[in-house]
Amino acid sequence: MEVYLDNNATTKVDPEVFKAMEPFFCDIYGNPNSLHKFGAGTHKKMVEALDYLYSGINAADEDDIVITGNATESNNTVIKGIWVDKILNGNKNHIITSEVEHPSITAVCKFLETQGVSVTYLPVNEEGILEAQQVADYIKEDTALVTIMWANNETGKLFPIKEIGQICKDAGVPFHTDATQAIGKVPVDVQACNVNYLSFSAHKFHGPKGVGGLYIQKGFEVTPLLHGGEQMGGHRAGTVDVASMIGMGVAMKLATSEMALAYENNHVRKLRDKLENAILEIPETIVIGGKENRTPNTTLISIRGVEGESMLWDMNQKTIGASTGSACASEDLEANPVMNAFGSDSELAHTGVRFSLSRFNTEAEIDYAIDVIKGAIARLRSISSSYAYTPKNHVSEL
Ligand SMILES: Cc1ncc(COP(=O)(O)O)c(C=O)c1O
Repeated sequence: MEVYLDNNATTKVDPEVFKAMEPFFCDIYGNPNSLHKFGAGTHKKMVEALDYLYSGINAADEDDIVITGNATESNNTVIKGIWVDKILNGNKNHIITSEVEHPSITAVCKFLETQGVSVTYLPVNEEGILEAQQVADYIKEDTALVTIMWANNETGKLFPIKEIGQICKDAGVPFHTDATQAIGKVPVDVQACNVNYLSFSAHKFHGPKGVGGLYIQKGFEVTPLLHGGEQMGGHRAGTVDVASMIGMGVAMKLATSEMALAYENNHVRKLRDKLENAILEIPETIVIGGKENRTPNTTLISIRGVEGESMLWDMNQKTIGASTGSACASEDLEANPVMNAFGSDSELAHTGVRFSLSRFNTEAEIDYAIDVIKGAIARLRSISSSYAYTPKNHVSEL
C-alpha cells in the first residue's frame, strides 16, 4: 500500500480540477487579452475562475486577486513592493514578521536587512503561537508592513490573524498574511480579519503546481515585481498560465465550500488524531507545540532517540511519504528551525517528523501507517546509541 502523508509539501491534483484544466491546452487556447472570439472564450473562463478565488477568501468585488507563479512569488511581491513604495520612496524603514515564517518570507526579510531595512522577528512561545499583543508592542512610527503567516507549515499552528488584523488597522500599518497552509483547512475571510494582502499556492489545496495568488485589498496598491504588459491590471506582467489558473479556481471552489471545510474538520481531523494518538502511546513521543489550535491535517511529532531522517527512510521503504519539515529545507540536515524557535532541546529538534494528511487519505491507509511507524520506531531505537531503556521512558513527558 502507498500512503502519502506529506500534503503540506504538495497535494495530488483533484481529478475534477484536472478535468477542468484539460480543454485549455488544445481546444480553448486563445490569449485572454486578444480581442477575437478565441481570446474572449478564454477570458470568460478566467473570470469564472477568479470568482471562485474571490469567494474562497471572501474578497470584496472591488479588491484585486493577482495570479502569480506560486506563494513564493506572492510573498516576494508584497514585501519587495512595500520596500520600494514605503521604504525606498517613503519615510518608513521597519518590517515586523515572526521567527517561524516560511523561507519565502524570511529570506526576503534577510535580504532587505542587507539593504538597511530593520526587521523584527517575533518569537513564538512553547506552543508555537504568537500573541497578537506582541505585534502591537513592536509597531513603530516607521513600520511599513506586518507579515505574519495564517497557519504554520510544520506544526499547523494557527496564528491570531483577526486580532493582528485589527491591531494593524488601528495603527494604520499594512497587514500581509501568508495563508498558503490555511486555504482549504480552516475558513479564511480577508474582510472579517482586516487583511490587506494575502498569499496562496494552488498545489497546497489539490490544484496544479506553478500557480498562486496574491490578494490585494482596494486602496493597498503595491509596486509589481514583474514589469511588462498590462496583464493582471498592471500588477503582474506576462501572459498568465490559463489552464493552471482555471485549475486553481476550481480547486479553491472544491476546497473552501462549507462541506469541504466540514469534511476537513471531521474526517481529516479524525484520521490525523488516530495516527497521532497511536504514536503518542509510545513512550517519549510528543507533539511539538501541543495539540491545541492547529489545522486539522497536520501533526509534528518528536520521537526521542530517533533521527527524523532515519524515520523517513524506514517509512519510505514501506511506501509511506512524510517529512522532517518544510520540503524546501529538508535536503539539508540542519535542525528544523521551527522546532528550534519553539525552544526545543537540540535532540528534539532533530527528531521531528511531520505528518500532513488530506481528504484523499483513508482509514485503511492510516492503519497501515500506524503499523509501519510503530515497527520503525522500535527498530531504530533498538540500534540507537543515544537511546537506552530507562524507567523514565515510561513516563509521558506531556
Ligand atoms: C507557509 C508557506 N508559505 C509559502 C510556501 C511556498 O509555496 P510555493 O513553493 O508554492 O511557492 C510554502 C510551501 O511549503 C508554505 O508552506
